[in-house]
Amino acid sequence: MNLFDVYPLNDVTIVKAKGSYVWDDNGNQYLDLYGGHAVISIGHTHPHWVKRIEEQLEKIAFYSNSIKIPLQQELAKKLGEVSGKEDYQLFLCNSGAEANENALKLASFHNGRKKIVAFNKAFHGRTSLAVSVTDNKNYVAPVNETDNVTFLPYNDEAALQEHFDRHGNEISSVIIEGMQGVGGINVASESFLKLIRALCDKYGAVYIADSVQCGYGRSGKFFSHDFAGVNADIYSMAKGMGNGFPVGGIIIAPHIQAKHFQLGTTFGGNHLACAAALAVLEVMKEEKLMGNAVMVGKYLREELSRIPELKNIRGRGLMIGFDVPQEIGALKKNLLANQKIFTGEAKPNVIRLLPSLALKKKDAEQFIEAVKEEIELQKAERLMLNA
Ligand SMILES: Cc1ncc(COP(=O)(O)O)c(C=O)c1O
Repeated sequence: MNLFDVYPLNDVTIVKAKGSYVWDDNGNQYLDLYGGHAVISIGHTHPHWVKRIEEQLEKIAFYSNSIKIPLQQELAKKLGEVSGKEDYQLFLCNSGAEANENALKLASFHNGRKKIVAFNKAFHGRTSLAVSVTDNKNYVAPVNETDNVTFLPYNDEAALQEHFDRHGNEISSVIIEGMQGVGGINVASESFLKLIRALCDKYGAVYIADSVQCGYGRSGKFFSHDFAGVNADIYSMAKGMGNGFPVGGIIIAPHIQAKHFQLGTTFGGNHLACAAALAVLEVMKEEKLMGNAVMVGKYLREELSRIPELKNIRGRGLMIGFDVPQEIGALKKNLLANQKIFTGEAKPNVIRLLPSLALKKKDAEQFIEAVKEEIELQKAERLMLNA
């Protein structure tokens, strides 16, 4: 049997990982500023995370949601403490798409409405509802097409206001990433998020904060939407939540009440996933990783801004993007091939940095030097070609 070939692959086989480093099967060491797509939050194979999972594995790995699983309550308590949303309610699932799927569905159950507002360049996942609020036609199968979703321009307050003025009473929910990831690292303005809150309040719609990529401390606040100083009704999470162990979830404001059987999952909230997620929060708190994300992120953005060839440096904390002009378009590829540094990308010509929140300043310095070197190399090559 062959693999279903849906992923364009880098020709690298990673066999070992520690902190912000990974190693391939030839023993080459790489600096990981991609974090396996924003998943590695506390660092690869963190000893506390490994120990917590190993200890749990010896006891029990899984039982279904038909019994009490006190680890879930422990996780909810810790998540409340670290995120500051102590009065919210936690529903656990397995991935980001599933988290958004449940959030959108729950909103519709809550207010009995069907219409959803999403934004241009949004990415919310691949399952049925999640993909229908994702602004990429290539991911939407005919069966997912719906006229229940309206895409509006991101950060366009007038367009949002006008849409609510006309259709406010039909809108079930508004879903928005606090910082668009796949869309190229675009930061939602604080006034835009405040307007979403105000309009949802006025019309009885549910504000869903997709925090799958920009959440879990990556921005320097637990949820990047928190920069606006207003609360969402539902926050979706995954990626950094398990540091590589598959776990996702939504937290739900107290005014939205649970009904038996409304949501459900076989694997979500299993013992092992809870142990992994607890380990992540414990390390985040103990090692003050949100503070580190602020500090190292600031350093990176400042240094990147000093490199004249790079344009439009943006982001918050350790979620950073910048435009790479065509003349140095091979930068990402060359960083991997020559400098052994993993970065992420967003099309067209955007490099995304999504490292572990424990990234050290010396690693950030190494990256900056590597970028400068690769830009000089590409310039020299161009000069030779034109000579
Ligand atoms: C903002 C956002 N939401 C949802 C998802 C989907 O998450 P998953 O791939 O875990 O289903 C992603 C994945 O990249 C994402 O970036």
